[in-house]
Amino acid sequence: MRSLIITCMCAVYTFFYLVQIGQARPVKRYDERTRMCRFLADGRLDWESEPWGTGGIKFREVCKSCHHRNNNKGATFIHAESYTSKAWNSIFTKRRKKCARDGSWNVLSEDELQMVNDYLYRNGDWTYDPNSADSCG
Ligand code: HEC
Repeated sequence: MRSLIITCMCAVYTFFYLVQIGQARPVKRYDERTRMCRFLADGRLDWESEPWGTGGIKFREVCKSCHHRNNNKGATFIHAESYTSKAWNSIFTKRRKKCARDGSWNVLSEDELQMVNDYLYRNGDWTYDPNSADSCG
């Protein structure tokens, strides 16, 4: 019985390990609105799609101004890992969430929205990979 439990646990750990390898941080993002491929690990976008770049800064300045913990704006708590990269892309492509429709996103320019999308896409759920040089900086 005991060895069976250990075998099962090993299988589970191996599974999550393999899932993680398969889910390294994305290096490019296809943007359906502009129909362009954005290279997130190169040049200017490499900087802008990180927490210290325009994407991360605007996410905290604008989105988090409502979506912080215990806010009184009726907004759920949201951080980069609240959604997967794919889900973030869909949120920014459709722009059908309440705040996107009521104009709360309008303080951001198209360019800035793209970079917030880049940042969330690059740092979304399942993107952290301790074995990738990209995660080490
Ligand atoms: C003025 C306040 C405000 C700002 C700014 C704002 N939101 Fe929202 N957002 C809301 C409210 C209110 C809702 C509806 C309640 C909810 O589901 O959180 C909402 C809903 C959402 C949802 C759906 C949440 C769910 O659980 O279904 C997402 C995702 C979201 N916002 C993302 C963003 C992003 C990304 C930004 C920045 C580009 C942003 N919001 C900026 C107030 C805001």
